[in-house]
Amino acid sequence: MSAPDVRAFTVGPVQENSYIVRADPASTRAVIVDPGDEAERLLAAVEALGVELDAILVTHCHFDHIGAVAPIAAATGAAVYCPLIERPVLADVMSWVPPGFGPFESYEADHTVAGGERLSLAGIDFEVRFTPGHSPGHVTYAAPGALLSGDVLFQGSVGRVDLPGGDWDTLESSIGELIDAYPEETVVYPGHMGVTTLGRELATNPFLSELRARVPRAAATADTPARGR
Ligand SMILES: [Fe+2]
Repeated sequence: MSAPDVRAFTVGPVQENSYIVRADPASTRAVIVDPGDEAERLLAAVEALGVELDAILVTHCHFDHIGAVAPIAAATGAAVYCPLIERPVLADVMSWVPPGFGPFESYEADHTVAGGERLSLAGIDFEVRFTPGHSPGHVTYAAPGALLSGDVLFQGSVGRVDLPGGDWDTLESSIGELIDAYPEETVVYPGHMGVTTLGRELATNPFLSELRARVPRAAATADTPARGR
């Protein structure tokens, strides 16, 4: 399966990246990942692309990633997939929003994910990976050649770990698992800032120096005896 067509829309006061993802540019079905704000603009984009939304995928429930979930679900009927242990946050958004932001509408998730699931949506096969560290229930949605990875890994940076439930060692091991699981050319579509690749971040990201110091995967593979010997 080839890499999906991914359109980015940076929304809201925190400049969060929402993504509309299709199997290919001719597809009439799509999913939207982390619709954080500006519901009307995102709905106009859905209409302009001529797609129907199969699902709304949420990586984690910080307000800047979920502010437009409820209005987009109401307008499209798309089912919402939410990290299991952050479901109560989506269901009671304004209790978690810092002063000065919102108001945002709450939503009872239609489905929960905890990592390990495989979802076939809009003609795309997604693997759900549990990637906590920035937030306690954070998940990454992996499509062929592409990671919709929320606030795990950024171009030259990583998700902050000073918010409730954040932890650097946990985030570092989540990033390490993604690096081990997917090829270096895998495109990373993050929740903030620009698009990058796993290989570029492994090579240059100043926060990944300990991961970089691990035994390179190519060397580890070369040391493995060939099957049958
Ligand atoms: Fe976040």
